Amino acid sequence: MGFFARLLLVGFCLLAFGSRGFVRGNAELEALMEIKAALDPENKVLTSWTSNGDPCGGSFEGVACNEHQKVANISLQGKGLSGKVSPAVAQLECLSGLYLHYNSLTGEIPREISKLTELADLYLNVNNLTGSIPSEIGYMASLQVLQLCCNQLNGTIPPQIGSLKKLSFLALQHNKLSGDLSGLGNLQTLKSLDLGFNRFTSTIPVKIANIPGLQALDVQNNSLSGLVPPALKKLEERFHYQNNPGLCGFGFPSLRNCNNLDPDLQPNGGNTDTIGPIPQTANVTIHCNQSHCSQSKLPQAALVAGIVSVTVTLVGAGLLTFYRYRRGKQKIGSTADASDGRLSTDQSKDLYSRSASPLVCLEYSSGWDPLDDGRCGNGLSLQAPRYTLEEVESATQYFSEANLLGRSNFSSVYKGVLRDGTLVAIRSINVTSCKSEEVDFVNGLNLVTSLRHENLTRLRGVCCSKGRGECFLVYDFAPKGTLSQYLDLEDGSIQGLDWPTRVSIIKGIAEGIGYLHNSEANKPAVVHQNISVEKILINQQFNPLIMDSGLPKLLADDVIYSALKTSAAMGYMAPEYITTGRFTEKSDVFAFGVIIFQILSGKLQLSSSMRSAAESCSFENFIDCNLRGNFTEPEAAILGKMALRCTSELPDSRPTIFRVIEELND
Ligand SMILES: *[C@@H]1O[C@H](CO)[C@@H](O)[C@H](O)[C@H]1NC(C)=O
Ligand SMILES: *[C@@H]1O[C@H](CO)[C@@H](O)[C@H](O)[C@H]1NC(C)=O
Ligand SMILES: *[C@@H]1O[C@H](CO)[C@@H](O)[C@H](O)[C@H]1NC(C)=O
Ligand SMILES: *[C@@H]1O[C@H](CO)[C@@H](O)[C@H](O)[C@H]1NC(C)=O
Ligand SMILES: *[C@@H]1O[C@H](CO)[C@@H](O)[C@H](O)[C@H]1NC(C)=O
Ligand SMILES: *[C@@H]1O[C@H](CO)[C@@H](O)[C@H](O)[C@H]1NC(C)=O
Repeated sequence: MGFFARLLLVGFCLLAFGSRGFVRGNAELEALMEIKAALDPENKVLTSWTSNGDPCGGSFEGVACNEHQKVANISLQGKGLSGKVSPAVAQLECLSGLYLHYNSLTGEIPREISKLTELADLYLNVNNLTGSIPSEIGYMASLQVLQLCCNQLNGTIPPQIGSLKKLSFLALQHNKLSGDLSGLGNLQTLKSLDLGFNRFTSTIPVKIANIPGLQALDVQNNSLSGLVPPALKKLEERFHYQNNPGLCGFGFPSLRNCNNLDPDLQPNGGNTDTIGPIPQTANVTIHCNQSHCSQSKLPQAALVAGIVSVTVTLVGAGLLTFYRYRRGKQKIGSTADASDGRLSTDQSKDLYSRSASPLVCLEYSSGWDPLDDGRCGNGLSLQAPRYTLEEVESATQYFSEANLLGRSNFSSVYKGVLRDGTLVAIRSINVTSCKSEEVDFVNGLNLVTSLRHENLTRLRGVCCSKGRGECFLVYDFAPKGTLSQYLDLEDGSIQGLDWPTRVSIIKGIAEGIGYLHNSEANKPAVVHQNISVEKILINQQFNPLIMDSGLPKLLADDVIYSALKTSAAMGYMAPEYITTGRFTEKSDVFAFGVIIFQILSGKLQLSSSMRSAAESCSFENFIDCNLRGNFTEPEAAILGKMALRCTSELPDSRPTIFRVIEELND
């Protein structure tokens, strides 16, 4: 962005806000308090928004300000808000992003929102909003993303929407909208249009099909009829039209051929895109009038008004350039700019997601987009099935705290439910913790994907979002928690493990490690590096599943080392690691030996007296007393000896895992 534009921008903000500040005190704070009272009437969520606080001081949850101390973004997605959207949002004149999706908001979209002429991203999806889309929406000249999916909106799409000259992403699916689609043909900058699961009744306007950059169109489950414009074939599998019994067309799979009874088959018939008078440019004077100029009673009012009206258009452009510049800066080398470039399905998710977490601000390494189109740089391709960010978000209810299973400094694990009802565990890894070389990362991901064994957690698929700066690994969920939850039991909240279960868990873990260490046809030998009772999940049948196998192949070295510190503190670290700094199969065996002791004793912390007790078979000193003697002594003796050998100081004195498995099977 040019210096000139920046100067104008500063000038604009001084003109626009400088005088108000003196006259009215902190009007934005007042507006925020009004917004809060509506969004969160019981003050359960937004307790950090206080009437004597500073909205731009960083303490107001979800509020981000620009460099002029004006509120720029409000991000309260997935916060369990159950109130309404207040018309007071209109007073936050510099707002560029409003993210209120995944809540339970009711009421209507206030028409005053249209005064937000700087707003680029409006996310109100997955709420319970009612009423119709306000026709004033046409004034929101900067709008790029309008996400209203999954509400109870009814009425028609106002034709004024056609004046949104920047709109690239429009999502209205899963509402009760009706009427025709003619107003949408004027949205010449659209890249993605989702109208599915509504009650639309018109034909598909040819003008929509002719939008040059359109990459995805979804109209499924409506009551559309007539000829499907052949130009939509260019969208290939990104055009969804099923469950519209009235639609017909030529050359689309699963679409019947048209006949004489179909409404009007002339190329443009029924597709008349004539609509009522719509403002062709956003009415910036309204914004200016109501907000600033009319309050100015100074003699230079005319002059100021003159300057404003001259600069507003320029500044409008300047602001946009500015945003684009900032956005561009955040992701140097990336291709998923909202304003240009291809918008593959994933990139559209990216667009969606980048905006969805405006407070995540990351530097992306050049070209970090391993999942772009399923192909990576250097001709690598990704083998894991892929999930979309939307699927991950909806499975975890937008990463709600209630679904958080655990968090470490580089990743979090959430419980989730896929659309088909499958329970999953989703590990999110921050991109800054991932291998920096794309090739290494993708190779690692392919290795992790290839690992399949009944005693390893199964990776179902992945989703990497450059927008969120996170990668998600989606695993089968293990309903019985981690093995660590069965140790150090005090209250009776969880049933302890009986002896046969303990023995079979030990065997299962050994089998899992054996699979990893075995270099079979399509898989190199893998050293886990970080086995612990925290990393062993228990499934419905009480079989153990080893988690995070191959994970070090995805992570940056410093992240691995910091994870190792934890493992060392817990006693799983083989002694030779300190001198060699290397992990071998034998270091996994050491950790396995520690786990045997933990399972036998039912204790997290081991003591040296346990070792001598195992040596001398004094069971009462190393077998869990909660078993009340319900164990078989010969088995306990064998397992105790095995644990001792596995935890020998010298790696060479430890058995291989294959030897362990043989002995366990005898
Ligand atoms: C919307 O309301 C319905 C019924 O009142 C409720 O079942 C549903 O969970 C609500 N949806 C959201 C996203 O709050
Ligand atoms: C939309 O729904 C509201 C109730 O939420 C109802 O009062 C109104 O009549 C509906 N409007 C249309 C056009 O169906
Ligand atoms: C979509 O349409 C099909 C066929 O009419 C119907 O079976 C299905 O339930 C619809 N889906 C939704 C979510 O309305
Ligand atoms: C802009 O607003 C003014 C004042 O309300 C109105 O007279 C004018 O027609 C509007 N212009 C457009 C293009 O809508
Ligand atoms: C804008 O200002 C002009 C001149 O003061 C006035 O005539 C017009 O009514 C104002 N429009 C609005 C919407 O306030
Ligand atoms: C607001 O959100 C946008 C979109 O995510 C982001 O580019 C911008 O930097 C954010 N602004 C502030 C002040 O945080």
